[in-house]
Amino acid sequence: MGKRVFKNITIFGTGMMGSGIAQIFAMKQCFNVTIFSRRGIASGVLEKIKSNLNVLMENKICTEDEIERALEKITVVDDMETAAKDADFIIECVPEDMEIKQNLFKDLDQICRPDTIFATNTSVMSITEIASKTTNKARVIGTHFWNPPYLIPLVEVVKTEDTSDDVVEQTMDLMRFIEKHPIKVNKDVPGFVANRLQHALWREAISIVERGIADAATVDEALKFGPGLRLPILAPIENADMVGLDLTLAIHDYILKYLEDSHEPSPLLKEKVEKGELGFKTGKGFQEWTEEEAKASKKRLSEYLINVLYNK
Ligand SMILES: NC(=O)c1ccc[n+]([C@@H]2O[C@H](COP(=O)([O-])OP(=O)(O)OC[C@H]3O[C@@H](n4cnc5c(N)ncnc54)[C@H](O)[C@@H]3O)[C@@H](O)[C@H]2O)c1
Repeated sequence: MGKRVFKNITIFGTGMMGSGIAQIFAMKQCFNVTIFSRRGIASGVLEKIKSNLNVLMENKICTEDEIERALEKITVVDDMETAAKDADFIIECVPEDMEIKQNLFKDLDQICRPDTIFATNTSVMSITEIASKTTNKARVIGTHFWNPPYLIPLVEVVKTEDTSDDVVEQTMDLMRFIEKHPIKVNKDVPGFVANRLQHALWREAISIVERGIADAATVDEALKFGPGLRLPILAPIENADMVGLDLTLAIHDYILKYLEDSHEPSPLLKEKVEKGELGFKTGKGFQEWTEEEAKASKKRLSEYLINVLYNK
């Protein structure tokens, strides 16, 4: 098949991810972006997109005129057939519920042209299973965007055993075209690549707190002021080559037996959830958070990302 030009992009789901992903395509100007919502325009999706874009405008990343033109490229519909029948590429961002996702692709299979690609933005679920009620499984692929999708460059493009090589290559090209940084994941495994890495780190972080080796704030400090600083430039595989695989082997030979290897969530984590200590949303998690502190944390993150990505 080779290079393919995509024109009509359809997004299912108007939440945090659906709105953010629709916005990326709309800003490129060369796509017709259709968003399906059972509530149509009343879903408030255009307001959500406008509010995200306003933050970018305040940081001089886009102009008011660009926002207007982007919003003009978006149509919100409440009828599935209208949303899907001319679509070249569909990304579903409906809730993380296997049955909803399976049934959506099953229905779309009946409506769409044979060459329409079905992408799922699932965070952790098996893409093979999501595709199981779909006749044409070769067209189903994972495109795992990270939140906020209009800022974080990474998209994990996940192949199942049934996904065709053309669909993989065309999806990688499309993600590059919208200026994302796609990575190819060769196996449809839980957590793909980045969440496996992330949660290996979280498991150890929580375990250190649980064992009283350091308190919660100190664990974060250890990363923020140490290895976390160099991670964007020097990630584990290059780092291992840099220090030498002989040294890496010697370190692993000594330390791996001491690291957390539980296959269950930590008892401390379970206990906190049982007590209703859920983090920002309840004012207490591993640490205590006032509303202002929680807001300030989110603001620090978006300012940092804008600074790193746009040099602003
Ligand atoms: N939030 C994140 O940080 C994040 C990151 C990466 C991937 N994801 C994944 O993206 C997907 C969407 O996540 P989100 O955070 O945007 O969720 P969300 O709850 O904010 O949005 C879900 C949307 O789907 C709509 N919806 C519900 N049932 C539907 C149906 N049957 N048909 C069509 N639309 C329906 C809802 O009205 C809502 O607009 C999930 O699979 C999630 O795991 C989320």
